[in-house]
Amino acid sequence: MSDVSVLKRKNGVEPVLSPPLAGGYRRVKVDDKRIINCRADVNQLVPIKYKWAWEKYLAACANNWMPSEISMQRDIEQWQGGALSAEERHMLKRNFGFFATAESLAANNIVLGTYRLITNPECRQYLLRQAFEEAVHVHAYQYIVEALGLDEGEIFNMYMEIPCVHDKDAFCLEYIDTLTDPSFETGEPAADRRLLKSLIAFAMIMEGLFFYVGFVQVLALGRRSRMPGCAEQVQYILRDESLHLNFGIDVINQIKLENPHLWDASLQGEVLEMMKTAVELECRYAEETMPRGILGLNCAMFKEFLRFVADRRLEQIGLPGLFAGSRNPFPWMSEAADLKKEKNFFETRVIEYQTGGKLKWDD
Ligand SMILES: [Fe+2]
Ligand SMILES: [Fe+2]
Repeated sequence: MSDVSVLKRKNGVEPVLSPPLAGGYRRVKVDDKRIINCRADVNQLVPIKYKWAWEKYLAACANNWMPSEISMQRDIEQWQGGALSAEERHMLKRNFGFFATAESLAANNIVLGTYRLITNPECRQYLLRQAFEEAVHVHAYQYIVEALGLDEGEIFNMYMEIPCVHDKDAFCLEYIDTLTDPSFETGEPAADRRLLKSLIAFAMIMEGLFFYVGFVQVLALGRRSRMPGCAEQVQYILRDESLHLNFGIDVINQIKLENPHLWDASLQGEVLEMMKTAVELECRYAEETMPRGILGLNCAMFKEFLRFVADRRLEQIGLPGLFAGSRNPFPWMSEAADLKKEKNFFETRVIEYQTGGKLKWDD
């Protein structure tokens, strides 16, 4: 290798080059690797330091799916044949509107932000896969909107026009904008804390809380054999998002471990406040999407559920819960909420498969 300057990272950090070997390069050692602000060459995947990242990459690849593999025939018949109440149609459209753009925000957050700032090749390998999955999720909502003949302008503009959708995205955008700002650099404690907060906002709040009212609502419909194609896609999205969330939590905890000075009382307090606000926003979303109780669900149950989910997330990054005694009112979602499980999380069970086969679900 003649010119090591080509390996220089874009943010200006020189790779560690000592002691130079013939040709002027140095093999990366496992101990050189760090999850942020790493000075070792990021172009060398091996030796792998963070096995959890590589394992998640492999698990994600084994769960490949595409929206077009799922039949929407029954959904079209039900949607056009009057099988759904006005409340159910309202709830579905709101969720399609929220997810359709939230998934694009997720993709942009990874590609334009997180990927650059996470300086570890095995984590980047997973992020590349995750970015593709976010594209598949955007595709899923485009596919649903097209199949059902919905007004695409209405659905894709909800994040600008419907306050309960807008407010969730606006909350996350503040943090996503930090990551996607090309001039944002880590390396100083204040900037590293901003990175940590943004990762928490994205993985634990956007993917880990703001998606969950929608997941419950669409899956509750699917449990009653209604809109089965939509519900099946949401099941696969939930499985993918469960992995995204767990990866995010591993990244956050690894940054804390390698940089304990960042995780001070002030930052912990800020994170608790963020989660409190997020629960309020998601409760408002639940109220607006489902103002009256339907499908055996109501707003009080969602409030309880969100408190339960929020406390689980906080515990996973070593923070105390905010809502003592909160319980999961949706026992059928318990496996989905159980973050240790990445498969078989719903009442129907996904048959493990590899790429290329049509997905099947047991009853
Ligand atoms: Fe997604
Ligand atoms: Fe995601």
